[in-house]
Amino acid sequence: MGKVATSEALRFMTDCLKAVGTATKAAQQQAELLIQADRMGHPSHGLNRLELYVNDIISGACCPNNEPKILKESASTAWVDANNVLGATASHFAMDIAVRKAKQTGVGWVTVKGSNHNGMAGWWAQKAADKGLIGMAFTNTSPLLAPTRSKKSALGTNPLSVVAPASKGETFYLDMATTAVAVGKIEMQMRKDEPIPSGWAQDPDGKETNDAQLAFNTGCLMPLGGGEKTSGYKGYGLAAMVELFCGISSGSNYGHHIRSWSHSGQGGPANLGHCFVAVDPECFAPGFGDRLTESMQHWRQLEPADPNLPVLAPGDKEKKAAQITDGKGTVSYVKQQIDSSAALAKRLKVKPMDVELD
Ligand SMILES: NC(=O)c1ccc[n+]([C@@H]2O[C@H](COP(=O)([O-])OP(=O)(O)OC[C@H]3O[C@@H](n4cnc5c(N)ncnc54)[C@H](O)[C@@H]3O)[C@@H](O)[C@H]2O)c1
Repeated sequence: MGKVATSEALRFMTDCLKAVGTATKAAQQQAELLIQADRMGHPSHGLNRLELYVNDIISGACCPNNEPKILKESASTAWVDANNVLGATASHFAMDIAVRKAKQTGVGWVTVKGSNHNGMAGWWAQKAADKGLIGMAFTNTSPLLAPTRSKKSALGTNPLSVVAPASKGETFYLDMATTAVAVGKIEMQMRKDEPIPSGWAQDPDGKETNDAQLAFNTGCLMPLGGGEKTSGYKGYGLAAMVELFCGISSGSNYGHHIRSWSHSGQGGPANLGHCFVAVDPECFAPGFGDRLTESMQHWRQLEPADPNLPVLAPGDKEKKAAQITDGKGTVSYVKQQIDSSAALAKRLKVKPMDVELD
Protein backbone atom coordinates (compact mmCIF):
# COMPACT_ATOMS: atom_id res chain seq x y z
CA MET A 1 0.00 0.00 0.00
CA GLY A 2 1.02 3.62 -0.45
CA LYS A 3 -0.21 6.73 1.37
CA VAL A 4 -0.86 9.99 -0.46
CA ALA A 5 -1.96 13.31 1.05
CA THR A 6 -5.59 13.83 -0.01
CA SER A 7 -4.73 17.25 -1.46
CA GLU A 8 -1.85 15.70 -3.44
CA ALA A 9 -4.09 12.98 -4.94
CA LEU A 10 -6.57 15.69 -5.92
CA ARG A 11 -3.75 17.75 -7.48
CA PHE A 12 -2.55 14.74 -9.48
CA MET A 13 -6.01 13.85 -10.81
CA THR A 14 -6.72 17.47 -11.76
CA ASP A 15 -3.33 17.79 -13.50
CA CYS A 16 -3.88 14.60 -15.53
CA LEU A 17 -7.26 15.82 -16.77
CA LYS A 18 -5.82 19.24 -17.59
CA ALA A 19 -2.87 17.62 -19.40
CA VAL A 20 -5.28 16.14 -21.95
CA GLY A 21 -6.89 19.53 -22.58
CA THR A 22 -9.69 19.75 -20.00
CA ALA A 23 -10.44 23.30 -18.82
CA THR A 24 -9.58 23.90 -15.16
CA LYS A 25 -13.12 23.97 -13.71
CA ALA A 26 -14.21 20.75 -15.45
CA ALA A 27 -10.96 19.02 -14.44
CA GLN A 28 -11.40 20.13 -10.82
CA GLN A 29 -15.02 18.94 -10.68
CA GLN A 30 -14.19 15.52 -12.12
CA ALA A 31 -11.17 15.14 -9.81
CA GLU A 32 -13.31 16.18 -6.82
CA LEU A 33 -15.77 13.39 -7.66
CA LEU A 34 -12.90 10.89 -7.69
CA ILE A 35 -11.26 12.04 -4.47
CA GLN A 36 -14.62 11.94 -2.67
CA ALA A 37 -14.98 8.27 -3.66
CA ASP A 38 -11.50 7.49 -2.30
CA ARG A 39 -12.31 9.50 0.83
CA MET A 40 -15.66 7.76 1.43
CA GLY A 41 -14.28 4.24 1.08
CA HIS A 42 -15.21 3.52 -2.55
CA PRO A 43 -11.75 3.24 -4.16
CA SER A 44 -13.35 1.52 -7.16
CA HIS A 45 -14.76 4.95 -8.13
CA GLY A 46 -11.78 7.07 -7.19
CA LEU A 47 -8.29 7.19 -8.70
CA ASN A 48 -9.13 3.77 -10.21
CA ARG A 49 -11.40 5.55 -12.73
CA LEU A 50 -9.01 8.38 -13.75
CA GLU A 51 -7.37 6.59 -16.68
CA LEU A 52 -10.75 5.71 -18.19
CA TYR A 53 -11.67 9.42 -18.31
CA VAL A 54 -8.25 10.40 -19.67
CA ASN A 55 -8.44 7.75 -22.41
CA ASP A 56 -11.95 8.82 -23.39
CA ILE A 57 -10.71 12.41 -23.80
CA ILE A 58 -7.62 11.39 -25.78
CA SER A 59 -9.65 9.18 -28.13
CA GLY A 60 -12.19 11.97 -28.69
CA ALA A 61 -14.99 9.86 -27.14
CA CYS A 62 -15.51 12.66 -24.57
CA CYS A 63 -15.27 16.41 -25.29
CA PRO A 64 -14.69 17.97 -21.85
CA ASN A 65 -14.91 21.60 -22.95
CA ASN A 66 -18.32 21.45 -24.63
CA GLU A 67 -21.35 23.06 -22.92
CA PRO A 68 -24.43 21.10 -21.78
CA LYS A 69 -27.79 22.60 -22.74
CA ILE A 70 -31.49 22.33 -21.85
CA LEU A 71 -33.52 20.84 -24.72
CA LYS A 72 -36.97 21.08 -23.14
CA GLU A 73 -38.36 22.14 -19.76
CA SER A 74 -41.50 22.61 -17.70
CA ALA A 75 -41.94 24.10 -14.22
CA SER A 76 -40.64 20.92 -12.60
CA THR A 77 -38.84 18.97 -15.34
CA ALA A 78 -35.97 19.41 -17.74
CA TRP A 79 -34.46 17.35 -20.53
CA VAL A 80 -30.75 18.05 -20.94
CA ASP A 81 -28.23 17.29 -23.67
CA ALA A 82 -24.86 16.95 -21.91
CA ASN A 83 -23.19 17.45 -25.29
CA ASN A 84 -20.59 14.79 -24.44
CA VAL A 85 -18.93 16.63 -21.53
CA LEU A 86 -17.40 14.84 -18.55
CA GLY A 87 -19.91 13.16 -16.22
CA ALA A 88 -19.24 15.59 -13.37
CA THR A 89 -19.88 18.67 -15.55
CA ALA A 90 -23.15 17.17 -16.82
CA SER A 91 -24.24 16.10 -13.34
CA HIS A 92 -23.57 19.47 -11.70
CA PHE A 93 -25.48 21.18 -14.52
CA ALA A 94 -28.49 18.84 -14.26
CA MET A 95 -28.73 18.53 -10.47
CA ASP A 96 -28.50 22.34 -10.13
CA ILE A 97 -31.60 22.54 -12.36
CA ALA A 98 -33.43 19.85 -10.34
CA VAL A 99 -32.66 21.70 -7.09
CA ARG A 100 -33.82 25.03 -8.49
CA LYS A 101 -37.10 23.55 -9.71
CA ALA A 102 -37.68 21.70 -6.41
CA LYS A 103 -37.22 24.95 -4.50
CA GLN A 104 -39.82 26.59 -6.79
CA THR A 105 -42.37 23.80 -7.26
CA GLY A 106 -41.58 21.08 -4.69
CA VAL A 107 -40.03 18.69 -7.19
CA GLY A 108 -37.41 18.78 -9.92
CA TRP A 109 -36.94 15.83 -12.28
CA VAL A 110 -34.20 16.08 -14.90
CA THR A 111 -33.06 13.53 -17.47
CA VAL A 112 -29.78 13.79 -19.34
CA LYS A 113 -28.55 12.31 -22.61
CA GLY A 114 -25.15 12.50 -24.28
CA SER A 115 -23.18 12.11 -21.06
CA ASN A 116 -20.24 10.14 -19.74
CA HIS A 117 -19.43 8.10 -16.64
CA ASN A 118 -20.42 10.13 -13.56
CA GLY A 119 -18.89 8.06 -10.75
CA MET A 120 -20.54 7.73 -7.35
CA ALA A 121 -24.28 8.26 -7.83
CA GLY A 122 -24.62 9.26 -4.17
CA TRP A 123 -22.36 12.28 -4.64
CA TRP A 124 -25.01 13.79 -6.93
CA ALA A 125 -27.94 12.97 -4.65
CA GLN A 126 -25.94 14.51 -1.78
CA LYS A 127 -25.84 17.79 -3.72
CA ALA A 128 -29.63 18.11 -3.31
CA ALA A 129 -29.53 16.95 0.33
CA ASP A 130 -27.01 19.74 1.05
CA LYS A 131 -29.80 22.16 0.07
CA GLY A 132 -32.33 20.54 2.44
CA LEU A 133 -33.97 18.39 -0.27
CA ILE A 134 -34.34 14.66 -0.81
CA GLY A 135 -31.92 13.92 -3.66
CA MET A 136 -32.03 10.99 -6.03
CA ALA A 137 -29.58 10.19 -8.78
CA PHE A 138 -29.51 7.35 -11.28
CA THR A 139 -27.34 6.51 -14.26
CA ASN A 140 -27.14 3.85 -16.92
CA THR A 141 -23.79 2.25 -17.75
CA SER A 142 -22.25 -0.15 -20.23
CA PRO A 143 -23.98 -3.54 -20.33
CA LEU A 144 -22.54 -5.69 -17.55
CA LEU A 145 -25.60 -7.20 -15.83
CA ALA A 146 -26.82 -10.59 -16.99
CA PRO A 147 -30.62 -10.61 -16.57
CA THR A 148 -31.84 -13.56 -14.47
CA ARG A 149 -31.58 -16.80 -16.56
CA SER A 150 -29.38 -15.10 -19.22
CA LYS A 151 -25.84 -16.03 -20.27
CA LYS A 152 -25.37 -12.55 -21.75
CA SER A 153 -25.36 -9.06 -20.29
CA ALA A 154 -28.00 -6.56 -21.40
CA LEU A 155 -28.14 -3.82 -18.73
CA GLY A 156 -25.54 -1.84 -16.83
CA THR A 157 -24.61 -1.91 -13.17
CA ASN A 158 -27.08 1.03 -13.12
CA PRO A 159 -26.71 2.59 -9.65
CA LEU A 160 -29.51 4.27 -7.74
CA SER A 161 -29.07 6.66 -4.87
CA VAL A 162 -31.30 8.44 -2.37
CA VAL A 163 -29.81 10.93 0.06
CA ALA A 164 -31.99 12.78 2.55
CA PRO A 165 -31.19 15.36 5.22
CA ALA A 166 -32.37 14.39 8.71
CA SER A 167 -32.18 16.30 11.99
CA LYS A 168 -29.29 16.37 14.52
CA GLY A 169 -26.67 16.21 11.75
CA GLU A 170 -27.86 12.84 10.40
CA THR A 171 -28.13 12.05 6.69
CA PHE A 172 -29.79 9.02 5.12
CA TYR A 173 -27.37 7.95 2.36
CA LEU A 174 -28.23 5.01 0.12
CA ASP A 175 -26.03 4.61 -2.94
CA MET A 176 -25.91 1.21 -4.60
CA ALA A 177 -25.25 -0.55 -7.86
CA THR A 178 -28.16 -2.75 -8.92
CA THR A 179 -25.71 -5.55 -9.63
CA ALA A 180 -24.45 -7.48 -6.60
CA VAL A 181 -21.44 -5.12 -6.71
CA ALA A 182 -20.10 -2.35 -8.90
CA VAL A 183 -17.71 -3.63 -11.61
CA GLY A 184 -15.03 -1.47 -9.97
CA LYS A 185 -15.01 -3.90 -7.02
CA ILE A 186 -14.03 -6.70 -9.42
CA GLU A 187 -11.31 -4.42 -10.83
CA MET A 188 -10.03 -3.82 -7.29
CA GLN A 189 -9.83 -7.60 -6.69
CA MET A 190 -7.82 -7.85 -9.94
CA ARG A 191 -5.49 -5.08 -8.76
CA LYS A 192 -4.98 -7.03 -5.49
CA ASP A 193 -4.76 -10.38 -7.38
CA GLU A 194 -7.51 -11.83 -5.18
CA PRO A 195 -10.63 -13.94 -6.01
CA ILE A 196 -14.19 -12.57 -5.92
CA PRO A 197 -16.90 -13.95 -3.60
CA SER A 198 -19.65 -16.19 -5.00
CA GLY A 199 -22.75 -14.37 -6.20
CA TRP A 200 -20.89 -11.50 -7.91
CA ALA A 201 -20.42 -12.68 -11.49
CA GLN A 202 -20.88 -15.42 -14.08
CA ASP A 203 -18.43 -17.21 -16.36
CA PRO A 204 -19.08 -17.56 -20.13
CA ASP A 205 -21.30 -20.63 -19.44
CA GLY A 206 -23.55 -18.63 -17.13
CA LYS A 207 -22.17 -20.31 -14.00
CA GLU A 208 -20.99 -18.37 -10.94
CA THR A 209 -17.24 -17.73 -10.87
CA ASN A 210 -14.76 -16.67 -8.18
CA ASP A 211 -12.08 -15.73 -10.72
CA ALA A 212 -11.85 -11.91 -10.84
CA GLN A 213 -10.07 -11.77 -14.21
CA LEU A 214 -12.49 -14.26 -15.82
CA ALA A 215 -15.42 -12.30 -14.35
CA PHE A 216 -14.05 -9.03 -15.77
CA ASN A 217 -13.38 -10.55 -19.19
CA THR A 218 -16.82 -12.19 -19.33
CA GLY A 219 -18.59 -8.98 -18.25
CA CYS A 220 -21.68 -10.74 -16.88
CA LEU A 221 -22.27 -9.52 -13.34
CA MET A 222 -25.10 -11.01 -11.33
CA PRO A 223 -27.95 -8.73 -10.34
CA LEU A 224 -28.36 -7.60 -6.74
CA GLY A 225 -29.65 -10.70 -4.94
CA GLY A 226 -27.58 -13.12 -7.05
CA GLY A 227 -29.30 -16.09 -8.70
CA GLU A 228 -33.02 -16.72 -9.14
CA LYS A 229 -33.33 -18.72 -5.88
CA THR A 230 -32.08 -15.72 -3.90
CA SER A 231 -34.38 -13.29 -5.75
CA GLY A 232 -31.77 -11.82 -8.08
CA TYR A 233 -34.62 -10.95 -10.42
CA LYS A 234 -35.42 -8.04 -8.09
CA GLY A 235 -31.99 -6.55 -8.75
CA TYR A 236 -32.57 -7.13 -12.45
CA GLY A 237 -35.90 -5.30 -12.12
CA LEU A 238 -34.26 -2.38 -10.32
CA ALA A 239 -31.56 -2.11 -13.01
CA ALA A 240 -34.32 -2.03 -15.63
CA MET A 241 -36.14 0.68 -13.63
CA VAL A 242 -32.97 2.80 -13.58
CA GLU A 243 -32.68 2.35 -17.35
CA LEU A 244 -36.28 3.48 -17.76
CA PHE A 245 -35.48 6.69 -15.82
CA CYS A 246 -32.18 7.26 -17.67
CA GLY A 247 -31.64 6.05 -21.22
CA ILE A 248 -35.22 5.27 -22.13
CA SER A 249 -36.51 8.63 -20.83
CA SER A 250 -33.64 10.79 -22.07
CA GLY A 251 -33.09 9.25 -25.53
CA SER A 252 -29.42 8.48 -24.80
CA ASN A 253 -27.99 5.07 -25.58
CA TYR A 254 -29.65 2.46 -23.39
CA GLY A 255 -29.07 -1.12 -22.23
CA HIS A 256 -27.60 -3.32 -24.93
CA HIS A 257 -27.01 -0.29 -27.24
CA ILE A 258 -24.37 1.22 -24.93
CA ARG A 259 -20.74 0.60 -25.87
CA SER A 260 -18.91 -2.25 -24.13
CA TRP A 261 -17.15 -1.51 -20.88
CA SER A 262 -13.52 -0.64 -21.56
CA HIS A 263 -10.71 1.34 -19.94
CA SER A 264 -9.10 2.26 -23.22
CA GLY A 265 -11.46 4.87 -24.68
CA GLN A 266 -12.57 2.50 -27.47
CA GLY A 267 -16.05 2.37 -28.95
CA GLY A 268 -16.75 6.07 -29.55
CA PRO A 269 -18.89 8.36 -27.39
CA ALA A 270 -20.68 6.54 -24.58
CA ASN A 271 -23.82 8.72 -24.87
CA LEU A 272 -24.93 7.71 -21.36
CA GLY A 273 -28.20 8.75 -19.72
CA HIS A 274 -28.67 10.03 -16.18
CA CYS A 275 -31.65 11.06 -14.09
CA PHE A 276 -31.59 13.54 -11.19
CA VAL A 277 -34.49 14.20 -8.86
CA ALA A 278 -34.88 16.69 -6.01
CA VAL A 279 -37.92 16.74 -3.74
CA ASP A 280 -38.72 19.22 -0.98
CA PRO A 281 -39.75 17.26 2.15
CA GLU A 282 -41.40 20.45 3.45
CA CYS A 283 -44.22 19.72 0.95
CA PHE A 284 -45.32 16.81 3.17
CA ALA A 285 -45.88 16.18 6.88
CA PRO A 286 -43.87 18.33 9.31
CA GLY A 287 -41.13 16.49 11.24
CA PHE A 288 -39.54 14.59 8.31
CA GLY A 289 -35.99 15.09 9.61
CA ASP A 290 -36.85 14.07 13.18
CA ARG A 291 -38.61 10.87 12.14
CA LEU A 292 -35.76 9.95 9.82
CA THR A 293 -33.18 10.50 12.55
CA GLU A 294 -35.27 8.56 15.07
CA SER A 295 -35.49 5.63 12.61
CA MET A 296 -31.78 5.59 11.83
CA GLN A 297 -30.90 5.71 15.52
CA HIS A 298 -33.38 2.90 16.25
CA TRP A 299 -31.82 0.65 13.58
CA ARG A 300 -28.33 1.21 14.97
CA GLN A 301 -29.48 0.29 18.48
CA LEU A 302 -30.96 -3.09 17.44
CA GLU A 303 -29.19 -6.03 19.08
CA PRO A 304 -26.70 -7.33 16.50
CA ALA A 305 -26.56 -11.03 15.60
CA ASP A 306 -22.77 -10.77 16.00
CA PRO A 307 -21.76 -8.50 18.90
CA ASN A 308 -18.68 -7.43 16.93
CA LEU A 309 -20.78 -6.18 14.02
CA PRO A 310 -23.18 -3.43 15.09
CA VAL A 311 -26.24 -2.74 12.94
CA LEU A 312 -25.63 0.19 10.58
CA ALA A 313 -27.85 2.72 8.87
CA PRO A 314 -27.35 3.29 5.12
CA GLY A 315 -24.37 5.62 4.71
CA ASP A 316 -22.68 4.83 8.03
CA LYS A 317 -19.78 3.07 6.32
CA GLU A 318 -19.13 6.01 4.02
CA LYS A 319 -19.34 8.54 6.89
CA LYS A 320 -16.91 6.52 8.99
CA ALA A 321 -14.48 6.14 6.07
CA ALA A 322 -14.64 9.90 5.40
CA GLN A 323 -13.98 10.69 9.08
CA ILE A 324 -10.94 8.40 9.12
CA THR A 325 -9.57 9.84 5.87
CA ASP A 326 -10.08 13.40 7.06
CA GLY A 327 -8.41 12.60 10.40
CA LYS A 328 -5.32 11.22 8.66
CA GLY A 329 -5.31 13.69 5.79
CA THR A 330 -4.21 10.88 3.48
CA VAL A 331 -5.74 8.31 1.14
CA SER A 332 -4.25 4.84 0.68
CA TYR A 333 -3.85 3.02 -2.62
CA VAL A 334 -2.81 -0.54 -3.43
CA LYS A 335 0.65 -0.94 -4.93
CA GLN A 336 -0.66 -1.76 -8.41
CA GLN A 337 -2.69 1.47 -8.38
CA ILE A 338 0.38 3.49 -7.34
CA ASP A 339 2.41 1.88 -10.15
CA SER A 340 -0.24 2.47 -12.82
CA SER A 341 -0.63 6.10 -11.68
CA ALA A 342 3.15 6.58 -12.00
CA ALA A 343 2.97 5.16 -15.54
CA LEU A 344 0.08 7.51 -16.33
CA ALA A 345 2.07 10.49 -14.99
CA LYS A 346 4.92 9.56 -17.33
CA ARG A 347 2.60 9.10 -20.31
CA LEU A 348 0.95 12.51 -19.74
CA LYS A 349 4.18 14.28 -18.63
CA VAL A 350 2.52 15.25 -15.34
CA LYS A 351 4.29 15.49 -11.97
CA PRO A 352 3.77 12.04 -10.37
CA MET A 353 1.97 11.69 -7.04
CA ASP A 354 4.11 12.10 -3.99
CA VAL A 355 3.62 8.68 -2.34
CA GLU A 356 4.76 7.33 1.03
CA LEU A 357 5.08 3.56 0.59
CA ASP A 358 4.27 1.32 3.62
N1 LIG B 1 -21.39 5.59 -12.39
C1 LIG B 1 -21.51 4.31 -12.57
O1 LIG B 1 -21.54 3.87 -13.70
C2 LIG B 1 -21.63 3.38 -11.40
C3 LIG B 1 -22.06 2.08 -11.60
C4 LIG B 1 -22.19 1.24 -10.51
C5 LIG B 1 -21.86 1.70 -9.24
N2 LIG B 1 -21.44 2.96 -9.08
C6 LIG B 1 -21.06 3.45 -7.75
O2 LIG B 1 -20.25 2.49 -7.09
C7 LIG B 1 -20.30 2.72 -5.69
C8 LIG B 1 -20.33 1.40 -4.97
O3 LIG B 1 -21.59 0.73 -5.18
P1 LIG B 1 -21.91 -0.63 -4.39
O4 LIG B 1 -23.26 -1.08 -4.76
O5 LIG B 1 -20.80 -1.58 -4.58
O6 LIG B 1 -21.92 -0.08 -2.88
P2 LIG B 1 -21.94 -0.89 -1.49
O7 LIG B 1 -22.47 -2.26 -1.68
O8 LIG B 1 -20.60 -0.75 -0.86
O9 LIG B 1 -22.97 -0.02 -0.61
C9 LIG B 1 -24.30 0.14 -1.01
C10 LIG B 1 -25.10 0.86 0.06
O10 LIG B 1 -25.27 0.00 1.17
C11 LIG B 1 -24.93 0.67 2.38
N3 LIG B 1 -24.38 -0.35 3.29
C12 LIG B 1 -23.23 -1.04 3.16
N4 LIG B 1 -23.11 -1.91 4.17
C13 LIG B 1 -24.20 -1.76 4.97
C14 LIG B 1 -24.67 -2.38 6.16
N5 LIG B 1 -23.99 -3.34 6.77
N6 LIG B 1 -25.85 -1.97 6.70
C15 LIG B 1 -26.58 -0.99 6.09
N7 LIG B 1 -26.19 -0.37 4.94
C16 LIG B 1 -25.03 -0.77 4.40
C17 LIG B 1 -23.92 1.70 2.00
O11 LIG B 1 -23.90 2.76 2.96
C18 LIG B 1 -24.46 2.13 0.64
O12 LIG B 1 -25.46 3.11 0.79
C19 LIG B 1 -21.52 3.63 -5.49
O13 LIG B 1 -21.06 4.92 -5.22
C20 LIG B 1 -22.23 3.61 -6.84
O14 LIG B 1 -22.95 4.78 -7.16
C21 LIG B 1 -21.33 3.82 -10.12
